[in-house]
Amino acid sequence: MPDLALRGGLYTLIDDPFLQPAADSALYEPDGLILIRDGRISALGAYSALRDRVGADVPLRHYPDAILLPGFVDAHIHFPQVEIIGSYGAQLLEWLNTYTFPAEAKFTDPQHAGRIAEFFVDELLLNGTTAASVFCTSAPASVDAIFEAAQRRNMLLLAGKMMMDRHAPPAILDSAQASYDDSKALIERWHRNGRGRYTVSPRFALTSSPRQLELAGALMSEYSDLRLQSHISENRAEVARAAELYPERAHYTDIYEHYGLLNERAIYGHGIHLSEAELRRFHETGAKIAHCPTSNFFIGSGLFDIARAKAASRPIVVGLGTDVGGGTSFSMLQTMAEAYKMAQLRGISINAAQSYYLATLGSAEALGIADRVGKLAPGYDADIVVLDPLATPLLALRAEVAESLEELLFALMICADDRAIQATYVAGELLHERRKPR
Ligand code: GUN
Ligand code: ZN
Repeated sequence: MPDLALRGGLYTLIDDPFLQPAADSALYEPDGLILIRDGRISALGAYSALRDRVGADVPLRHYPDAILLPGFVDAHIHFPQVEIIGSYGAQLLEWLNTYTFPAEAKFTDPQHAGRIAEFFVDELLLNGTTAASVFCTSAPASVDAIFEAAQRRNMLLLAGKMMMDRHAPPAILDSAQASYDDSKALIERWHRNGRGRYTVSPRFALTSSPRQLELAGALMSEYSDLRLQSHISENRAEVARAAELYPERAHYTDIYEHYGLLNERAIYGHGIHLSEAELRRFHETGAKIAHCPTSNFFIGSGLFDIARAKAASRPIVVGLGTDVGGGTSFSMLQTMAEAYKMAQLRGISINAAQSYYLATLGSAEALGIADRVGKLAPGYDADIVVLDPLATPLLALRAEVAESLEELLFALMICADDRAIQATYVAGELLHERRKPR
């Protein structure tokens, strides 16, 4: 017997639509039913086929006009940067120095870290995001705060302490050895504690000494199921500085590869200015990219070429990240819209299946959690978002003339925001329900 049943339209990706036809990559059930037991999906399919399995005492929530999707997965986000979202007038290196580093310095205070962590996870949920890969600061208190907030909601978050031992204000720097010791203690405390997963997080080559990158590599070999997150090739001045700091390496990607940080367990934010040789190494090693379009537009970093990253000859696994606070929205719908516009400027149009793939299954694959979340399937965790295509007068009018599900989903991702998130379920629990609009 299920302990909860959800009825509505069901839409889920089951494969990568960049690599095969959209029609073979997605499943749609106009009137579907999801049965949930012990936080997992026990069965799903047509309402007519499954209705008999719902006993009279099982709560059944019906969303007649809505579409149920797997919860969104944000592949790259910084929780200590929430407060500085939308900060004016600087490109990457100046933006970091002017806004980001001072904001991050406040997270040695556990009270501040706790307040922002609570706000942050609630903001994820009201945007329909049920899993994310989160950068903290170099202060261990920031890592405790985010895992505690996630654990209170039984959310699957990956998070890690920022490793950074040079070229930033002393207040947010660690040392190579301290970053190793702190990370190790946090791994022991949080990795696979509930749904939490620790992710080794050297900020980027510019703020790590060779010794620190070496120790990040040591952590990756000591723990065979740990993931790693970092940044690469976001901004041209950053790329030039990386070459100055590591002159003996062939290119930016080679810096990370040299220290054992380029493999199938690693995900790098941005990758806008990677060369063909570097993209090839990403493909060959299985390293992933987190595409963060709202941030790339806002910080003026450049136009990521998604068609090039997904080229059939050497495809790379790409997830979608908001990169808040360089990114300008928690909404994965708005992030999909900006990914679409960025691709348009490169001369290609990402279709609805590809966009929703990036925001769900693609990000889950990029983070190594696609065996648990990112799709609607039996045995998967019941992380589910309820999308309301009639959420606003404009959306309702647009929906009247939509002739296909693809058209409707596309218009939603272009025009909708958090108002279209009717409900968010985490491991089968209703954690966000939109207040009545209008
Ligand atoms: N590169 C290194 N650190 C950061 C960061 O915090 N945000 C962004 N957008 N890029 C980075
Ligand atoms: Zn980032």
